[in-house]
Amino acid sequence: MKPVIAPSILSADFAHLAKDIEMINRSDADWVHADVMDGVFVPNISFGFPVLKYVVELTQKPLDVHLMIVNPEKFIPEVKALGAHTMNVHFEACTHLHRVIEQIREAGMEPAVTINPATPVALLTDIIRDVYMVLVMSVNPGFGGQKFIKHSITKIQQLRQLIDSTGSKALIEVDGGVNLQTAPRLIAAGADVLVAGSAIFGHENPEQIIRDLKGI
Ligand code: DX5
Ligand code: ZN
Repeated sequence: MKPVIAPSILSADFAHLAKDIEMINRSDADWVHADVMDGVFVPNISFGFPVLKYVVELTQKPLDVHLMIVNPEKFIPEVKALGAHTMNVHFEACTHLHRVIEQIREAGMEPAVTINPATPVALLTDIIRDVYMVLVMSVNPGFGGQKFIKHSITKIQQLRQLIDSTGSKALIEVDGGVNLQTAPRLIAAGADVLVAGSAIFGHENPEQIIRDLKGI
């Protein structure tokens, strides 16, 4: 099966965001990945709901919202109001993860849990059947353009094993340092969804890179 490609608009040209969204619309990309940061959970602040409101007006692709914030459950109504397809919350940001996952599903969105590079896959054992997707961070969250952490490949293999052995239907998404060099290894390890920011928007022909990633 071909990978799902989700360009991360964190690396888009914010002065011409409409142009970059139109590029995604024309391209073979499947989703739009949106990184919301709060300056607390991660050492950076990106954009929030007022900006995403305009993104959803322009995009024709499902929105994949990655919340790098503390207390993400507080913003379920805002993410729902965007019409988001998936809502990703960090394992490390949720004391009552099971409840948050249920609340996201009750709100009509697909619930996803994200794990930081230092969070072991084994900690997902008791939630893996309840989530639509697991997002494996292959960099420490907060910034685009960082170096890929190689151990992420092993984590994706472990996650694939956990999913297959429990009968879970969860998709595996990977985010951080995804490019034409790392993507084939991620797919081989079991990844279903590739998020890429700088590899797409930093290239002179982003549509071609999306096509190439889709063709892996
Ligand atoms: C990082 C974000 C990523 C970021 C990836 O915290 O979650 O989505 O945009 O950027 P690249 O693809 O440049 O590593
Ligand atoms: Zn992200």
